[in-house]
Amino acid sequence: MNPLELSRSGSAVDGISRREVLRLASAAAVVGSVSRNSFAQAATAGSAASDKAKAFPEKFLRGCATAAHQVEGNNTNSDYWTMEHLPGSMFKEPSGDACDHYHLYPQDISMLADLGFNTYRFSIEWARIEPEEGFFSNAELDHYKRMLATCHEHNLNTMLTYYHFSLPRWFAVKGGWQQEKAADLYARYCEKVTKHMGDMVGYASTMNEPDVPQLLDWLDLPGLPAGMSLTQAMQAGAANVRKQLNAPDFGDFFFGDPMKTRDGLLAAHAKAREAMKSVRPDMPVGFNLAMSDDQAAPEDRHLEEKRHAVYAPWLDAAKKCDYLGVQTYSRSVVGKKDLQPAKGVELTMTGMEFYPECVEHVVRYAAKETGVPIFVTENGIATEDDTRRVEYYQRAVAGLKRAIDDGVDVRGYVAWSLMDNFEWQSGFKPKFGLVAVDLKTQKRTIKPSAAILGNIARRNSL
Ligand code: BGC
Repeated sequence: MNPLELSRSGSAVDGISRREVLRLASAAAVVGSVSRNSFAQAATAGSAASDKAKAFPEKFLRGCATAAHQVEGNNTNSDYWTMEHLPGSMFKEPSGDACDHYHLYPQDISMLADLGFNTYRFSIEWARIEPEEGFFSNAELDHYKRMLATCHEHNLNTMLTYYHFSLPRWFAVKGGWQQEKAADLYARYCEKVTKHMGDMVGYASTMNEPDVPQLLDWLDLPGLPAGMSLTQAMQAGAANVRKQLNAPDFGDFFFGDPMKTRDGLLAAHAKAREAMKSVRPDMPVGFNLAMSDDQAAPEDRHLEEKRHAVYAPWLDAAKKCDYLGVQTYSRSVVGKKDLQPAKGVELTMTGMEFYPECVEHVVRYAAKETGVPIFVTENGIATEDDTRRVEYYQRAVAGLKRAIDDGVDVRGYVAWSLMDNFEWQSGFKPKFGLVAVDLKTQKRTIKPSAAILGNIARRNSL
């Protein structure tokens, strides 16, 4: 029996209490497979706690993130579910039951708290709450209210994302973010949600990574037909989906005119923020921005051009927010496009350079540009070698600490992701999780990195 496994019911296997399992996780996990270096750091946990120089600010948020469509399973009224099931779909596999977090959230949230974290960032699914235009399901609203209540029972701070990529199918069929009424429809949903559960929300986010369509356009992707930009490829993809669905206006987050989508998202963000604030003026509202650690190539410098095209409108929008969530995974060396990672550098399962210092650099830049408090709301690595995840997180939080020591106003750090999950077009292959999930049995297995990052969280210190 592996002492680190939790059963589907959430009770530990073979009569050991979950607390005991998690205590074992903290100690035994390290012995099994982590490098000596990590073992030494974990062993000196006690002395680190007393070392003020290594401590993060009081009330620092430390958590893990998930997104509804990636973990809940059976999100059948969403645009993603539809696209995943089209003949010749560009998705490697459908999301199916995913991690069945829709039903297993009580044990997952309790596991997150037991690991030492004090914050859970998760998203609610518009396609469940408003499965048909104008019909709001109280049962689904109550479901998410129960999730928030479960977080409170475990003394967890909550970060709630109202929209994380997947949309109700009816909204996508009408043109997604490009339709005229998009902002009003979205604000109406946000108002309903805030009325229903806003009093239980710690930090609200209007949307996750609205800049991704622009960011993708800077990638120089080897798989694209010659001369075709990613935007053009996405538009071709959209045309295909429209034909198959016999829905001439179909548009989602990725499939549409990226500039029109961006305008729609900016308007929707502003209206949603207003709607949320009108219900709960004291609720901190912000959003989550995808940010690469952009570094200028020695020649052919286009760094400022990229920043202007991708981030500028959103950094402006952030100035009116209570906070900005930044999400970063690696660096990009920016020429006319983002250059391919140099030969020989270590790559993660999603083809990114192993570069944990992106966190330090991105928080410095975002804080300087916006002047609002910064939270790292996603950071992590896709790898099957958990020792690399341990090193990644140790270097990432060390860099974050350097920035904080220099006076950068960072209020929290949230890892992506609590568990291995559905990585969109790539299916379940990339492993971003601190916890492994057996997709057949839904058994969770805590990885060493979870115990180590959880210990850092518990001590609130390096
Ligand atoms: C997204 C997540 C995604 C993660 C890893 C972020 O851009 O918010 O949904 O799983 O990156 O690719």
